[in-house]
Amino acid sequence: MAKHSLAVIVLAAGQGTRMRSGLPKVLHPVAGLPMLRHVLNAAAALKPERKVLVLGRGMEAVAKAFAPIAVAVQDPPLGTGHAVQAAMPALKGFKGDVLVLYGDTPLLTADTLKKLVAARRSKTEPAVVVSGFRPADPAAYGRMIQDAKGNLDAIVEFKDCTPEQRAIGFCNGGMMLLDGARLPALLKKLDNNNAKGEYYLTDLVHLARAKGWACRAVEVSEIDVMGVNNRAELSIAEGHMQARLRLAALESGVTMTAPETVYLRVDTKLGRDVTIEPHVVFGPGVEIADNVIIRAFSHIEGARVASGATIGPYARLRPGAEIGADAHIGNFVEVKQARIEQGAKVNHLTYIGDARVGAKANIGAGTITCNYDGYSKHHTDIGANAFIGSNSALVAPVKVGDGALIAAGSTITQDVPADALALGRGRQETKPGLAARLRAQLAAQKLKAKSKK
Ligand code: UD1
Ligand code: CA
Repeated sequence: MAKHSLAVIVLAAGQGTRMRSGLPKVLHPVAGLPMLRHVLNAAAALKPERKVLVLGRGMEAVAKAFAPIAVAVQDPPLGTGHAVQAAMPALKGFKGDVLVLYGDTPLLTADTLKKLVAARRSKTEPAVVVSGFRPADPAAYGRMIQDAKGNLDAIVEFKDCTPEQRAIGFCNGGMMLLDGARLPALLKKLDNNNAKGEYYLTDLVHLARAKGWACRAVEVSEIDVMGVNNRAELSIAEGHMQARLRLAALESGVTMTAPETVYLRVDTKLGRDVTIEPHVVFGPGVEIADNVIIRAFSHIEGARVASGATIGPYARLRPGAEIGADAHIGNFVEVKQARIEQGAKVNHLTYIGDARVGAKANIGAGTITCNYDGYSKHHTDIGANAFIGSNSALVAPVKVGDGALIAAGSTITQDVPADALALGRGRQETKPGLAARLRAQLAAQKLKAKSKK
């Protein structure tokens, strides 16, 4: 039915000056994704046919980050109603429903939007459906004026409210779902005769009522409609988002002993019976399979970990780390662009970069793959069951065969065949009794110096 096809307009022309940032406000990330991306992701669940971003002057970075989404530039910004007017040319010929969202509400969910859709499809076929909420502090939000039956009659902006209207606790959350067929007639009637001298989107409600069209308010949660205007609010939004991500992980079968200290990304994939100890930070692009243990203070990004592996404490997995089943990555170990195969152990104080470590190989404490010569990166290949003695430097490109043994403290610059033993260090010389003789000599010198004084 053409009637219920959907277009989304996201308002983001505000300059966001209170962020005090060189980055446009809606590009600031929450859980690693720009705020505007969260808003579009929530809207995506409704499968919109058309999308328009309303941006202000000088916001090319936003247009570029979200290309090919259509952009309407609103310059100067004269209010939320004016912003929707500015978006209309981009929706030429569209006859379905129009959903208006704000780009700075990163906690918006698909469920909240579905409530608006359900209300719009109710019997009275409201021309305007508005998200309402009851904030702990109604502050300067627009107030929802309802009749005795709960129909929405008007939204009055705080500055235009009578004292009685200010006492109303039910406020405008911002999101609106409008009948696209009736919208142009309403937009035409907007004026700016109000306290702020702006074209208010909220005026569409009383304009619709004047035509005898129904309007409805839908109550949603305060968190869902929370807008971000400064860095303090950004951190609060991040906190709410993290709480949601942690809860989803716990519900999916992950154990966390101190979830409030674990930082997740929207795209973090965690299998069943994964255990995450306190203070673990996930960057983008992490996939953890079932039964993995991630010990405290580990930092993981762009990495895949297969089932049964143990990571940390204090491990760092960087992009391109692929940890095989049952492998162990221990404390102060950094892995980058490397495959650690099944059951291999890299337990202490080690850097493995641009490498493969074969199945069941054992990498001793302090091993370094010297992968970079100042110009380019080189590969180190370590075979299955190889044993690398502690404090070895493997100067890439270099290959250590299956089952080979590298003596501790070696600098390995040449390939080592399978099952060979390689030693690459200065020979030790031992002089019997020399330490004792040196000590005696020094003691005699000290005595002589004293007696001269
Ligand atoms: C608006 C509502 C208010 C509601 C509140 C919820 C109006 C008139 N008021 O007030 O009822 O309680 O949101 O947070 O709608 N924007 C543009 N162009 C403009 C002006 C704004 O794109 O000319 C964008 C902003 O970037 C922002 C959004 O619209 O994303 C809301 O604008 P804002 O100025 O924050 O509206 P409020 O005054 O808070
Ligand atoms: Ca606002």
